[in-house]
Amino acid sequence: MNKKIKIGLIGCGAFGEGAHLSYLTKADNAEVVAICDINEKALMEASEKYGVKDVYTDYTQLLDRNDIEAVAIASPDQLHCEIACAAMKKGKHVMCEKPMALTVEDCTEMIEVQKETGKKLMIGQISRLTPGFAEAKRLVDEGVIGELFFVESEYAHDYSHVSGMDSWRADPLRHVVLGGACHAVDLLRWIAGNPHEVTAYSNKKMIKALPTDDCTIAIMRFPNNVIGKLFASSGCKGPYSMATRLMGTKGTIIINNTDPYITVYRGQVNTDSKLLDGAYTGEYNNEVQIRYPVELSNHNISKEYQMFLDSLLFDKPLLADGNEGLATVRACRAIIQSADENRTITINY
Ligand SMILES: NC(=O)c1ccc[n+]([C@@H]2O[C@H](COP(=O)([O-])OP(=O)(O)OC[C@H]3O[C@@H](n4cnc5c(N)ncnc54)[C@H](O)[C@@H]3O)[C@@H](O)[C@H]2O)c1
Repeated sequence: MNKKIKIGLIGCGAFGEGAHLSYLTKADNAEVVAICDINEKALMEASEKYGVKDVYTDYTQLLDRNDIEAVAIASPDQLHCEIACAAMKKGKHVMCEKPMALTVEDCTEMIEVQKETGKKLMIGQISRLTPGFAEAKRLVDEGVIGELFFVESEYAHDYSHVSGMDSWRADPLRHVVLGGACHAVDLLRWIAGNPHEVTAYSNKKMIKALPTDDCTIAIMRFPNNVIGKLFASSGCKGPYSMATRLMGTKGTIIINNTDPYITVYRGQVNTDSKLLDGAYTGEYNNEVQIRYPVELSNHNISKEYQMFLDSLLFDKPLLADGNEGLATVRACRAIIQSADENRTITINY
């Protein structure tokens, strides 16, 4: 029989309950032994729905349990650092939601505690597991579109009905570039490397109640003379979108988290390439268009937990460790700073 990692979940809100708990209570190699939320109603509803009997409104009591080996943190972003550090100091491995934290200082503290305790710390940069984005990364790494020269991604998500808008999401530190667009920034970093310079502009015309701007555009310089762009909006009308274009010397990849196809344009097709398996190929402006289906799994929580649990059980690589989470937060904070101060920011990692 598989060993089951005993897990405690902290935060039973929309994503904690709907994604984490929903997956973990079905997982082969995990057992949710306790859950925690300060909201008793949310806690008891989750307890009843998933049959987890041990419940806490104080996360420190959950952390006091010796049988818990790992903790999943789906609390508001402001608490990620405090809870993750307390958990690692109590000897628990940690799977922490994105963004790692709201400040570079908090991320740095989490990394220090991780090093001191030797516990695993994984940050849920889940867009890396969206099948279309993972395929795009594979194609870039295999050189299918040649050398990158331009990358762009976006996080366009209407937040008007999202939980927490009247509380933790309306924090001056919880800007859309960090809270939501950390997905797109992380994706660009993962594919093109760490951006080292950014110029950004932002405004607020949609969610007037927010203390921060709700729309940002940023242009960035990446390693190897790649340039790129990020668009982030938490107020725009229309479907949730992470439209992404990656341009290289031999071709272009177009993919979105809501598009069940990946599209690749190439000047020339290598007929040996696996790229053509099952793909529709047609002529377009003297180029070859290759379009093939990808699974639509925007929040691939099962794969995310497979990676976390495989790392605990078999020492396999984490999806994103503390340093990766920190680099994404650092880039996001630099974008916000550039827009706020109306100047170009150099990003040092
Ligand atoms: N990976 C993704 O794509 C994705 C999607 C949505 C949310 N998230 C992240 O997941 C986290 C939770 O987001 P959500 O949408 O579920 O928010 P939510 O507001 O629906 O849920 C947060 C829950 O945390 C509880 N909470 C607050 N303080 C607590 C404390 N001290 N101890 C225990 N519980 C506490 C709240 O009562 C609430 O039930 C955030 O970090 C968010 O950024 C990630």
